[in-house]
Amino acid sequence: MSDKKDYQLDLIHRPRRLRQTQSLRDLVEETDLKISKLIQPLFVIEGDSICEPVDSMPGIERLSIDLLLKECESLIELGIGGVALFPKIEASLKCNMGREALNPESLIYRAIKALRKHFPELTIIADLALDPYTIDGHDGIVEIGSQSPLNDVTVDILAEMAVLAADAGATMVAPSDMMDGRVGVIRKTLDANAFQSVLILSYAAKYASAFYGPFRDAVGSVSLETGAIIDKRSYQLNPANRREALLETSLDESEGADILMVKPAGQYLDIIREVRESTILPVAAYQVSGEYAQIMAASEKGWLDLKACRNESLLAIRRAGADMILTYFAKAYAQDIN
Ligand code: PBG
Repeated sequence: MSDKKDYQLDLIHRPRRLRQTQSLRDLVEETDLKISKLIQPLFVIEGDSICEPVDSMPGIERLSIDLLLKECESLIELGIGGVALFPKIEASLKCNMGREALNPESLIYRAIKALRKHFPELTIIADLALDPYTIDGHDGIVEIGSQSPLNDVTVDILAEMAVLAADAGATMVAPSDMMDGRVGVIRKTLDANAFQSVLILSYAAKYASAFYGPFRDAVGSVSLETGAIIDKRSYQLNPANRREALLETSLDESEGADILMVKPAGQYLDIIREVRESTILPVAAYQVSGEYAQIMAASEKGWLDLKACRNESLLAIRRAGADMILTYFAKAYAQDIN
């Protein structure tokens, strides 16, 4: 039925013409959400056949290496773009210097080795930061009583971690610490150790966000001493700022980053767009644990439609300009699409 002639508006443009059928809507669709653009973050723990749920992240588990291998086999079959690994180490292995991070036999390096052995082509991303290893849960070395990691000492350790991760078989190293100058030092150190082809995915614009809460639970980086929320504002970006994000991304680019990441994603779509327009490098975005948890919680209550909200949240991040997305929804999305 068409509107009666008498009531017809004199319109040249009627954008609704393009939305009449699914076929037309598909033809004019601007953004896609391919499974190969998604990276699944995975939590690793010690042990055998261990699968520990993370309370604040329904559907997400910490896996021992044997189960991690099985999980990656399914992810590869589903066509996922890669995996980002995070260790939860035993409390007894933590110290103020985060020394376990430089033990070549540490959990994370064993996990990478095992994965590389079984899956030669898998894109494996090794996170570089000290928070799983320090008692206070900071990303770098902190002097007693301070909340502010020592920059240059921490950068040296990160560079050594990069070599261990590369040696174990990581495709990319991903410094998530926000120390100044770390990308340049990591690049030089990797190259000096003949790891020229290992990529650096830089957490370039990482904000001091309250949405990391469930992740800190997952890796056990909540301060062991106080149980208190860790204040990372002396190194992560102020959520009020955008120019600062552009400075950080341009510095990381000039220091040799291969991919620039914005984190979190959903609350920072404007930043993703601005970074996208300020560089020709690929841009990644991290849909963080709190973004995942809020959609899961509301859908468990019956207040939001899980799949529709999940897909819309991911599409929005792609539309903002992210080439790839780290998301805890990667596997579930892939399963639904396949
Ligand atoms: C720390 C790190 C964090 C995340 C990834 N790496 C948390 C933090 O900065 O405290 C958060 C990821 C998430 O919330 O999903 N190096």
